Amino acid sequence: MTTLKAFRASILHFTADPAFHTGAHAWHEDGLLVINDGHVLAAGDYALLKDTLPPDTQVRDYRGKIIMPGFIDTHIHYPQTDMIASPAPGLLPWLDTYTFPTERQFNDQAHAGEVADFFVRELLRCGTTTAMVYCTVHPESVDAFFDAAEARNLRMAAGKVMMDRHCPGFLQDTAETGARESEELIHRWHNKGRNMYALTPRFAPTSTEEQMYMCGELARAYPDTYVQTHVAENTDEVAWVKSLFPEARSYLDVYDKYGLLRPRSMYAHCIWLDNEDRARMAATGAAVSMCATSNLFLGSGLFDFAAADLHKVALSLATDVGGGTSFSMLQTMNETYKVARMGGTYLPALRMFYMATLGGARSMQLDGKVGNFTAGAEADFIVLDPKATPLLERRTTRCDSLDELMFALALLGDDRAIAATYAAGVQVHQRGE
Ligand code: GUN
Ligand code: ZN
Repeated sequence: MTTLKAFRASILHFTADPAFHTGAHAWHEDGLLVINDGHVLAAGDYALLKDTLPPDTQVRDYRGKIIMPGFIDTHIHYPQTDMIASPAPGLLPWLDTYTFPTERQFNDQAHAGEVADFFVRELLRCGTTTAMVYCTVHPESVDAFFDAAEARNLRMAAGKVMMDRHCPGFLQDTAETGARESEELIHRWHNKGRNMYALTPRFAPTSTEEQMYMCGELARAYPDTYVQTHVAENTDEVAWVKSLFPEARSYLDVYDKYGLLRPRSMYAHCIWLDNEDRARMAATGAAVSMCATSNLFLGSGLFDFAAADLHKVALSLATDVGGGTSFSMLQTMNETYKVARMGGTYLPALRMFYMATLGGARSMQLDGKVGNFTAGAEADFIVLDPKATPLLERRTTRCDSLDELMFALALLGDDRAIAATYAAGVQVHQRGE
């Protein structure tokens, strides 16, 4: 029995980073995406591929729309869904006032499950098919999240927060329980179906040296798990880390000392790094998760694209909900663009779409699996609608180039521009339903 499916639309995907390579994208104005058993068989011109299909193949007609790989959000907190858009003067008071009390509720697996379900549906509504997700300190919160992801066969990375100091007692683990529970969760979830585990020390101020050490041991023992944390987000936080770890050269150096800079490690924010830090990130294969809406919302600072590019650090984009103010990677591109402009960098639209797809996949060492339409890749894709709103329609019918078209979608688009979302070849979101 054949499980062949085909989709006709314009097709956009990337094979390289357009910031450093010419010919990095593939664009098929009248394209066809052919998938078999949840994997990409071919993506190309309709005229060339149509005759390769068996005569009875159903072709879903999305002409007028754009099919591209699903978005990859490399840093987001699912337990913060219900406190998105909570006002506070900066990161540390925001954590104390809203974040910690909200995360407290996730020791209840039923509550965690209800939030996880909403969260996953919201990601899909916004066209995000892969994310690197913070849970809370409670192992139940991780079970609830992976249950929700697995129910829709999504490729997701997530992990239990490790946090054994400088937080309310109701959210505190110990170095020993944090490591033991994390290891149990690795055995329960890592590489089960499409799930992937991420070791999740919240950030250096909330872990003792003992906890950082044990996390580093796990990172070494399980090299294909992820590491996710925050670094150099806010100047008050940087000063706090300096006082807690006086012997470290920099905030990033704290993580480096414990072996937490390695491929598959994802560092959110990276605003207040210096060039030695950037060189270390590039040398170790650690990746940046750039969180524009969160950094603007919390007043954390402006990410320096020029300095990151000088060191060729791997860059990816993220919403950082609930510090971030939107689940939409299109809205995230909108604000990323403006942050770059404020630092004197011009980000072409195609570079932003690269960072939100193949760039994210490469940062997670998932290229070949997700992020583009290379043959054999898992068929996670979205259908973008350039006419989603009256304004988008008006603007996109006046575009003279692909760059202008994608720029308009990035600046004016949001969840309304996602007509449909597919995971492993199966439709998991239809706009309006
Ligand atoms: N640093 C430590 N925890 C957090 C968090 O939950 N959100 C953000 N934006 N930064 C953090
Ligand atoms: Zn965060």
